[in-house]
Amino acid sequence: MLCLRRQAAKVIQQQEKEEQPGLTQQFMMRALGVLWVLSAAVCVGRSDHHIGHAVEAQDNAADDSDNNLSLVTSANKDFAFRLYKKLSDHSDSQGKNIFFSPASISAALAALSVGARGETHQQLFSALGYSSSQLAQTDVDQAFRTLLANTAAHNDLTKGSAVFVDKLFKPKPDFLDVLKQSYSAEGFSVDFLNSTEAANTINQYVSDKTNGKIDKLVESLDPNTVMYLLSYIYYKGNWKTPFDPRDTREDDFNVEENKKVRVQMMRMEEDVSTYIDQEIHTSVLHLPFNNSYSMLLLLPDNMTLLENKICPAHVNKWLKWMKTRKYNIFVPKFSIKTSYKLNDVLTGMGMTDMFGDRANLSGIAEGQNLAVSEVVHKATLDVDETGATAAAVTGIGITLLSLRIIPELKFNRPFMAIIIERNTNEMLFIGKIVNPNI
Ligand SMILES: *[C@@H]1O[C@H](CO)[C@@H](O)[C@H](O)[C@H]1NC(C)=O
Ligand SMILES: *[C@@H]1O[C@H](CO)[C@@H](O)[C@H](O)[C@H]1NC(C)=O
Ligand SMILES: *[C@@H]1O[C@H](CO)[C@@H](O)[C@H](O)[C@H]1NC(C)=O
Ligand SMILES: *[C@@H]1O[C@H](CO)[C@@H](O)[C@H](O)[C@H]1NC(C)=O
Ligand SMILES: *[C@@H]1O[C@H](CO)[C@@H](O)[C@H](O)[C@H]1NC(C)=O
Repeated sequence: MLCLRRQAAKVIQQQEKEEQPGLTQQFMMRALGVLWVLSAAVCVGRSDHHIGHAVEAQDNAADDSDNNLSLVTSANKDFAFRLYKKLSDHSDSQGKNIFFSPASISAALAALSVGARGETHQQLFSALGYSSSQLAQTDVDQAFRTLLANTAAHNDLTKGSAVFVDKLFKPKPDFLDVLKQSYSAEGFSVDFLNSTEAANTINQYVSDKTNGKIDKLVESLDPNTVMYLLSYIYYKGNWKTPFDPRDTREDDFNVEENKKVRVQMMRMEEDVSTYIDQEIHTSVLHLPFNNSYSMLLLLPDNMTLLENKICPAHVNKWLKWMKTRKYNIFVPKFSIKTSYKLNDVLTGMGMTDMFGDRANLSGIAEGQNLAVSEVVHKATLDVDETGATAAAVTGIGITLLSLRIIPELKFNRPFMAIIIERNTNEMLFIGKIVNPNI
């Protein structure tokens, strides 16, 4: 933070505290909180279905603003599972842990969409699951504002965003204003020409907001970066019923059928809430924190089947129908870290234009050829006897494309060659090269 104070001047004032949220909104936030920690959890899956989506959307139809909020929150849940599926299908993640914060990714992309126009905006909106016939950008902004205001009431969870702007780049004041009002963005002016210094400033900020859990969001910055948008989330919760460390023992964890590793296995014999889902052969354990958040741990007979079937409707069903009874439960202690570059995955979800010369980010600045250079995401999860700590950051680099384009001309197929004398244009040699190797 010291480094940040010295190097970056605050350009947006801290957002004032929001008024106390209504009861329905508080409930919604609670539901979202549960989902967030859940999607954060060890073994959640993908969604091919959209069941539950429409039903939820109608729950609060009485009030326009509640309705808009529930359209956004149920779209966010759905996006979480679609993104999960993309990440788990990705060849890079075979046999690897998956862990990310859909809340952080949705917020970063929604904030980006504030500055997107035309086709670029449509692609962002529809990939995030917001129906442009039902929701305008301002409705989405308002929903995120409400969600963030709810967070402010919980001191175990911090969420927010920040925008780092090059000192020579002038974004539209409207754009910065919406980011500040609706996405709790803090603004800083940096010198991206000194990319090492700019990266350090951003990394220091992220480390500060995640209590050191994520200390290096950006490795190196594209030298044409004019703006860097990020969204962070940090949660630390204590189990309502902690595990007794004296009951923790080393034990086997079956990574695959023929591959075991040793882990520190925590144990407790308590009344816990569970749901045995026969339909998808999965046992669900609900572990509440001593606040309004919970972790759901899902133990499937067949992970592929669970990943193929899981969707928001399953989560709703489990939360609604789980039963309390005495169990002897065993959960490993662990600390995991993940790191993703999401360009491919988001392109695969339909957000194509923003990454190239078709990008329309004219809501950020007019008449500039802006594009997204990268979307990165890093996350951590630590689980032990006392509780869990989870942190995540999404970073979006925005570059000035006109500077970046160096056209390419690659003679990698048959070509002709002529040698001429420049003054007379006398052709000294002419030929065709079909195979340079013969
Ligand atoms: C909810 O969204 C609709 C459709 O965009 C809009 O007309 C309405 O004003 C929004 N309601 C509130 C309270 O923002
Ligand atoms: C961006 O989108 C807006 C609104 O659709 C359009 O008026 C403008 O011409 C587009 N700009 C570019 C560079 O495509
Ligand atoms: C970049 O910033 C660092 C740290 O402030 C400084 O030591 C260095 O001289 C700067 N480099 C340039 C090229 O300005
Ligand atoms: C949760 O547990 C922690 C540590 O035991 C304690 O500091 C905190 O006050 C508790 N919060 C609630 C809401 O009970
Ligand atoms: C697990 O489920 C998948 C998808 O339904 C199926 O293809 C596969 O055969 C199942 N594996 C086992 C071991 O039953």
